[in-house]
Amino acid sequence: MSTAASSAAPPHWHLVGAGHIGTLAAAYVQAAGHGVTVVRPHAVGPIETTLAFADGRRSQRLTLPTVTPTSIEQPISHLLVACKTPYTRAALAPLPLAATVTAVRLQNGIGSLDGLLPSGARLIDAVTTSAVKGTRAHHDVVAENTTWFGDDGAAPDWFDGLRAHWPNLEWSASIRRRQWQKLVANAAINPLTALHDVPNGALIEDAALHARMRDLVAEADRVLGALDESWPGDSLAAVTVVARATAGNTSSMRADVQRGAPTEIEAINGWLLRAAAPLGLALPAHRAVFEALRER
Ligand SMILES: NC(=O)c1ccc[n+]([C@@H]2O[C@H](COP(=O)([O-])OP(=O)(O)OC[C@H]3O[C@@H](n4cnc5c(N)ncnc54)[C@H](OP(=O)(O)O)[C@@H]3O)[C@@H](O)[C@H]2O)c1
Repeated sequence: MSTAASSAAPPHWHLVGAGHIGTLAAAYVQAAGHGVTVVRPHAVGPIETTLAFADGRRSQRLTLPTVTPTSIEQPISHLLVACKTPYTRAALAPLPLAATVTAVRLQNGIGSLDGLLPSGARLIDAVTTSAVKGTRAHHDVVAENTTWFGDDGAAPDWFDGLRAHWPNLEWSASIRRRQWQKLVANAAINPLTALHDVPNGALIEDAALHARMRDLVAEADRVLGALDESWPGDSLAAVTVVARATAGNTSSMRADVQRGAPTEIEAINGWLLRAAAPLGLALPAHRAVFEALRER
């Protein structure tokens, strides 16, 4: 989808979460001529980092200015949110957000910004199938696949300019459907690989794990089908494709457990449990992984 040509100046973004996906977003945003400043809880000076790309093109050095929440002088008009979901509330609470702030949420899971934005805010959800890993000072861009931005409206005037510099970026009028598709894969693959400390492919190879994955997918389909009768409800094949395509990978939730960090279980399986409750649906498979990971 494309927007009408606009002479509006490119926006200046504040980025919360200059980790793997946030740094990649910052590189694209900078390339499009937008400003970007990282918000950190404590003063750290400019961030110097490197992005290496899987297609062999030259590594990119990136310098990103930083500010602390208390040193921001003007209300934030454009916000990129790319911290892990458990840190979102703490990261946003001290920010001076404009009443009409536009926030782009690059996080997995659903709902992590609920109640954290002003009532006049525009929330644009992003769903990305790109993958980045590495360290704070060096990010390996493993895949630059499709990223969808979307909400209920038309693309903002800055979108086409950004799209020219963000590979495979698309505006989606059905972002909720894309979010749900990713959520089902995350809700099935991430907790099982985290709890059993296995790569994603184990969910295909191990019959017992495969059966648990199947149960998680079926329960997720039941909730989403109850929320939207047009949901196709047959996600197992798609989730199996993801597990097979990423067979050797460590899921982000497994990586979080391995380093003793909080996981994104609240925004993934927790969202499904919260959605199921008013529908009177029990989700025993999701409840089990949710409780097991929350205790870690
Ligand atoms: N990596 C991927 O390939 C990928 C793909 C799709 C979706 N996602 C999603 O993107 C989100 C971020 O993932 P990631 O892999 O980029 O995580 P990450 O590398 O751990 O980056 C998160 C960043 O947030 C920062 N942060 C934490 N608390 C903060 C606060 N209060 N204020 C400001 N910054 C704060 C962290 O800083 P410190 O390092 O100082 O703690 C870190 O730099 C997650 O929801 C993830 O599921 C990631």
